[in-house]
Amino acid sequence: MFSKETYVQRRSALKKSVGSGVLLFLGNDETGLNYADNNFRYRQDSTFLYYFGLSFAGLSAVIDIDEDREIIFGDELTIDSIVWMGAQPTLKEKAERVGIIQTLPSASLTDYLSKAIKSGQEIHYLPPYRSEHNIKLMEWLNLPIAAQNGSIPFIKAVVNQRNYKSAEEIVEIEKACNITADMHIAAMKAIRPGMKEYEIAGLMESISLTLGGNLSFPTIATINGQTLHNHYHGNTIKSGDLFLIDAGAETEMGYAGDMSSTIPADKTFTSRQRAIYEIQNRMHVEAVKALRPGVTFESVYDLSAKIMVESLKEIGLMKGNVEEAVREGAHAMFYPHGLGHMMGLDVHDMENLGEVWVGYDGRPKSTQFGRKSLRLARMLEPGFVLTIEPGIYFIPELIDKWKGEHKFTNFINYDLLETYKDFGGIRNEEDYLITSDGARRLGKKIPLTPEEVEALR
Ligand code: GLY
Ligand code: MN
Repeated sequence: MFSKETYVQRRSALKKSVGSGVLLFLGNDETGLNYADNNFRYRQDSTFLYYFGLSFAGLSAVIDIDEDREIIFGDELTIDSIVWMGAQPTLKEKAERVGIIQTLPSASLTDYLSKAIKSGQEIHYLPPYRSEHNIKLMEWLNLPIAAQNGSIPFIKAVVNQRNYKSAEEIVEIEKACNITADMHIAAMKAIRPGMKEYEIAGLMESISLTLGGNLSFPTIATINGQTLHNHYHGNTIKSGDLFLIDAGAETEMGYAGDMSSTIPADKTFTSRQRAIYEIQNRMHVEAVKALRPGVTFESVYDLSAKIMVESLKEIGLMKGNVEEAVREGAHAMFYPHGLGHMMGLDVHDMENLGEVWVGYDGRPKSTQFGRKSLRLARMLEPGFVLTIEPGIYFIPELIDKWKGEHKFTNFINYDLLETYKDFGGIRNEEDYLITSDGARRLGKKIPLTPEEVEALR
């Protein structure tokens, strides 16, 4: 945890920003995996962690701005819980660690909220993403699930704090990035034809767990990198395959790292793999060079897409006017996702609060295939932490669909593209902090150029 003052100061800024009403924070509970006592890994809600720092199940909190009160609601452990799961600090002790004096039993929360509603106070809550949150909001606020949209002033105020990382947060994120880099470097050295994908996934995950961390999201370690979020690890790696890894560590305090690498199963890339890899590498390097305050992330995405189209034209996979191809969305055949996202206590930071608020500053998102998956588009500012992760993929089902529809025949050379259906996909990813005059990579460097990757093989 950070010092008490950090949490006190964050709550004080939040109160000023929202101005009035009651802010309701839903902490996360334990969730059964296959029966009630066999749980998923416990993960506290990130906004709860940000303002209250406490990673314990069964807590809720209220900041009553009008009455100037901060209360943590929870219950003391029963003797059975202590016998089976161990003792914890008392509720009072937990609250004091983050500068909160008042605590109340969980059962009194409904009453507190009903009184506040009766006296005309507005209850602000954030959009729920777990069914336990849905049930609580139904019970506490009498809100049907379909109406649980969250409070926009509360969302905006939280985003406006959490988007700007403090120096102590950067230290934590950099720890996560360093562990993440170690995971990737170990995997890049280990991959050999004949191994199972799960051997690589297991190797990487053990590195983070051994260092006291965990995972910031489920590991992608696959010979089918053309599937963007492929979580299957049962294939055998064959000579000639490209192996795509997207994996990250989470520190004990909950901060995320997120990197991707693409490695040949053999000691070197084939010439066809290398040609596409070099294009992806240029997209990545030029995007990083363009990062600085005052530019929009969407313009950096456009730059990366244009570099790809220009280069794919050189090898005959694309044709026509580059600007038009990107404007109309033809590039999304090969690059159907965005360039990156904010990262912090969540790997896609605050995604449950809405990408429109986190990454678009309230502007609507595009609905065009490919561009609609751009999670971040807004003007960059110092303190933002984001990922850079362009990719190039050959997705047989998408090729068949668009070819059958005669889509973008003015930009895509389908005859040549047919011969790439067995290629897979390439993505590399690093994490950056936007500084006052540019950007700084977070964490140690992972191999990125084909030469750097081959040197590790
Ligand atoms: N690390 C997975 C993603 O960024 O979507
Ligand atoms: Mn990412």
